[in-house]
Amino acid sequence: MWSDVSETEVTTAPRPLLLADGRPAARAWSLDPVMKHLNHGSFGAVPVVAQERQNEFRAEMDSSPVVWFPALPQRIAAARIDLAAFLRVAPDDVALVPNASAGISVVFASLQRRRGGGIVVTDHGYGAVTMGAERLARRWGGEVRTARVPLEASEEQAYEAVMAAVDDDTDLIVLDQITSATARRLPVELVGAEARRRGIPLLVDAAHAPGLIEAPLSGLTCDFWVGNLHKWGCTPRGTATLVARGELREELYPLIDSWGAADPYPDRFDQQGTIDATGYLAAPSALDFVESTWGWDTARRYMDDLAGYGERVIGAAFAELTGVTGTVDVGMPVPGMRLVRLPDGLAGSRVEADALRDRAARELGVEAAFTSFDGIGYMRLSAHVYNTAADYEYFAEDCVPLLGRWARAAREQPGVS
Ligand SMILES: Cc1ncc(COP(=O)(O)O)c(C=O)c1O
Repeated sequence: MWSDVSETEVTTAPRPLLLADGRPAARAWSLDPVMKHLNHGSFGAVPVVAQERQNEFRAEMDSSPVVWFPALPQRIAAARIDLAAFLRVAPDDVALVPNASAGISVVFASLQRRRGGGIVVTDHGYGAVTMGAERLARRWGGEVRTARVPLEASEEQAYEAVMAAVDDDTDLIVLDQITSATARRLPVELVGAEARRRGIPLLVDAAHAPGLIEAPLSGLTCDFWVGNLHKWGCTPRGTATLVARGELREELYPLIDSWGAADPYPDRFDQQGTIDATGYLAAPSALDFVESTWGWDTARRYMDDLAGYGERVIGAAFAELTGVTGTVDVGMPVPGMRLVRLPDGLAGSRVEADALRDRAARELGVEAAFTSFDGIGYMRLSAHVYNTAADYEYFAEDCVPLLGRWARAAREQPGVS
């Protein structure tokens, strides 16, 4: 998993992306310029143009609520057409939900037990989703089985590990398309094909996929797929998609049961009582902004080049401290995201990783993601168009030595950070 320092190679920095008027890309966002924003992946970041579009919709809603709300389902259905085109799926397969957690909760709340109530997850799963799977298994009277997938497992090895946990009692497989803590892909295509052959429903947690993968459902067979637009798509928060293509989709109901209940999937999701759905309506403006300014292909290439550059400079900086490069083999890498191993003593558990995130924001002025897997701490890099090589160079030069000091202190005095 660790390679020798001599393999570390710091190559050319990608040239920053600019706006049409020549200003840095970051000027199109309202991110605090005093902070360094190195963690797009957790909560996204909304360009000002989409914030303004949402404000316009809010003003319209607040000026004539009695006109706004009855017409809202048709407007949500129209937004679905644009958002489905972005994902390259049919609009009638897509329901809009506030976030990945909500889409997954819809599946957990709706799906019926058919066999032994067993649910298969992996040790890379998002904690909140895995807790939901455990509650569902308890309701079903079955068990959750956790497939152990080594960090560096290839597609084939990861597939074998997941399928080894599946048996005749399995009623649902929950698999991440892109994992949160370990920034890697899992073999959703291979598992999807086999699960369909065995008649086992597959729920794909694709919270990170929209925007990062061009056509995330291409070649993928699954019953349910949930992806956030408010992460890599940069849409206003509270905009996510639930895609369901098989016959089981008729079992799915929104968490807020409302007047659409008698409608078929996905129309019934277009009505959820009196809610602020302005994020859904403004979401296409964020996707269009990236497309019309750089094009999503260019944006994705830049994000990947920059994350790779960040991995190399930060990995090399840690290598100077520890003698080994922090570069990590994650088996099935993800464009735009990377993992860098932290020195021992940092982020060995999720609680410690979260505490490190908060301390870095407070004391270093850096918004960063730190994760933990198998007792080892990592920095998760996730670059977007507003990031530049200078962000990563700053972190490598100014922050890594301090992290090294924090790690030493933690090793000398465990429990005190
Ligand atoms: C893999 C994965 N699943 C689910 C979620 C939950 O997303 P949300 O908070 O938007 O519901 C996340 C968020 O980071 C995630 O990374």
